[in-house]
Amino acid sequence: MESSYNYWEKYYNTNRNPSKCSNFAKFVLPFLSPGKQLTELGCGNAKDSIFFAQNGIKVLGIDQCTEELAFLNKQFKDEYDISFLSKDMTRLDDLPKSDYVYSRFTLHAIDLEGEKRVLQWVAENLLVNGLFFIEVRSVNDELYGQGKALPDNAYFSDHYRRFLVINELIKRLKKVDLKILYKLESKGLAPYKDEDPSVIRIIAIK
Ligand SMILES: C[S@@+](CC[C@H](N)C(=O)[O-])C[C@H]1O[C@@H](n2cnc3c(N)ncnc32)[C@H](O)[C@@H]1O
Repeated sequence: MESSYNYWEKYYNTNRNPSKCSNFAKFVLPFLSPGKQLTELGCGNAKDSIFFAQNGIKVLGIDQCTEELAFLNKQFKDEYDISFLSKDMTRLDDLPKSDYVYSRFTLHAIDLEGEKRVLQWVAENLLVNGLFFIEVRSVNDELYGQGKALPDNAYFSDHYRRFLVINELIKRLKKVDLKILYKLESKGLAPYKDEDPSVIRIIAIK
């Protein structure tokens, strides 16, 4: 099985530039105040990070992909209040605390133990009243069950995906003392080419 790192480095090798921002980023924007700090976990080619920066938010984009993030720093650091850090998001330590943490399609890219470390890190690194925005594939997604079965509702097809159960994710968020402000599971939120995934959206507050 190809590692997640290799899969995504290769993917961004041919998809270097940020594409159009996601529907989720547009949904999140009204909750944000210009001048505040947002950390994006698993920013990929930064389509949403750049959108937030264009709207006056200070952004730190984190992703494991070193080559892509070097490109993004070179391309955008001088243009916006933005920087990119190449790191394993499941093993973050000392970073400046932020008003917002944003994770789109990344919690399903890591295993359950990694997710638990991420939730703990978010709970410790959000400022008081800070918001945590999540969009992630659910077990009701049509891709669920495709590929080699792995623990915790994960499957490996061309890459690793772990499909989430909304109430279990909420339980884990509450366990680290984050409170749920908003929750939804639906299709129709993140259409991509001929796919219409069933996704979970959550906003949690510290
Ligand atoms: C499905 S893509 C989503 C990218 C972006 N958030 C978006 O919405 O287009 C998953 C991203 O998570 C990143 N990722 C996966 N595991 C990671 C880890 N342990 N640490 C940092 N980034 C990781 C991948 O490199 C990839 O960019």
